[in-house]
Amino acid sequence: MSHTDNSLNTATGELPAGRPLQSTFDDGLDYPRLGSVSFRRGTLTSGQATLWEEHWPQLGRILADERIDVAAWFGRSGHPTIVEIGSGTGTSTAAMAPLEPETNIIAVELYKPGLAKLLGAVVRNGITNIRMVRGDGVEVLNRMFEPESLDGIRVFFPDPWPKARHHKRRIIQSGTLRLFASRLRPGGVLHVATDHAEYAEWISELIHVEPHLEWMGWPWDECPQLTDRQVITKFEGKGLDKNHVITEFLWRKKP
Ligand SMILES: C[S@@+](CC[C@H](N)C(=O)[O-])C[C@H]1O[C@@H](n2cnc3c(N)ncnc32)[C@H](O)[C@@H]1O
Repeated sequence: MSHTDNSLNTATGELPAGRPLQSTFDDGLDYPRLGSVSFRRGTLTSGQATLWEEHWPQLGRILADERIDVAAWFGRSGHPTIVEIGSGTGTSTAAMAPLEPETNIIAVELYKPGLAKLLGAVVRNGITNIRMVRGDGVEVLNRMFEPESLDGIRVFFPDPWPKARHHKRRIIQSGTLRLFASRLRPGGVLHVATDHAEYAEWISELIHVEPHLEWMGWPWDECPQLTDRQVITKFEGKGLDKNHVITEFLWRKKP
């Protein structure tokens, strides 16, 4: 792994120029290849930019080759931690977090305007248990979190990449399931939801592929975590408008 000084970027939330960090996994499993997708840009409104300058340095970080000290970042120890990959504009993140105040929520997203929107909701509503990381969720999990350190991982409405030649970009693959399992503590929960029928089929074929994850089905009444997103998010809403069915997947990390 290469080591770069990201302290400047972390303060501004800009991803460094050049090739994004991309790990090589030598386990023969499939991992998403993001290519140029990781360079997604977007502009902030001037209000968002002001808010970003003031609050991002405390509440946000960018992908870096360093483990996150979760207790120090949240200013409390002994609390469960959930990472959400691809939080988008953070609508469900901001709706769920106040209902799980004892849990540390870390939202990971590439898209800066999405994070800015979530940051706005966090500040306006005085939500204290959300932090954000800007970067590719696969790299963030691999580089910034210790094995068996997370109580939950959420992936809500991941990009479906419907064209066959783009399927390799899908985030749910045998390798990412292995990575998710490695970052979860025994008993930790992986929750994935999609409104894309064909992606649901793709995921269904992978539910038993990772030996460290136990498929729990849906619903799982005794699930130790909040599974209700509380709101219909932008993407979920779009799916519902087209009468799409939402398929939910829950796994538990084996002891
Ligand atoms: C279809 S949107 C869903 C957003 C949100 N979860 C919702 O339900 O409204 C997928 C999001 O995942 C983000 N994303 C895609 N690949 C990612 C990756 N490897 N790491 C982090 N975020 C990613 C995209 O930028 C996009 O905002």
